[in-house]
Amino acid sequence: MKIFICGKCGHLAFDAAPEACPVCGAKKEEFTQNDRIFEESRANSPEAEVKHVPFVQVNKECGLVPDKGCTDILVRIGKTLHPSEDKHFILFIDCYQNGAYVGRAQLSPGLYPAACFHLKTPTGTVTITEHCNLHGYWKTEIIL
Ligand SMILES: [Fe+2]
Repeated sequence: MKIFICGKCGHLAFDAAPEACPVCGAKKEEFTQNDRIFEESRANSPEAEVKHVPFVQVNKECGLVPDKGCTDILVRIGKTLHPSEDKHFILFIDCYQNGAYVGRAQLSPGLYPAACFHLKTPTGTVTITEHCNLHGYWKTEIIL
């Protein structure tokens, strides 16, 4: 799979670089290709996997969006919770559905490394990526 990284905000695009970054608006030329970005994070810090691979739960009908039938993708970074400190924290969690970007949770040391995405359509493959300021990019994929 081809992976393109936005040089401005770190967003990842799969298969092709977009004309404009859906997160920050950076132009296509600002993306660089690195198809091995997840493998590199794992290779650089194999012991870090348990604290970085997104742990995902699916909740149906939380009730926050009544009468629409939302499907909630609850994400926590790490089977063992990742630190959230000034020097070591998760920058963001991005959510994709069927390879297309649907949303970002922008994080900071003031937040736990967790997020919830309320999907409108409960079908397909959901990919969750996260970016740790020290340990790079990690991902999880689930099929709804
Ligand atoms: Fe980390």
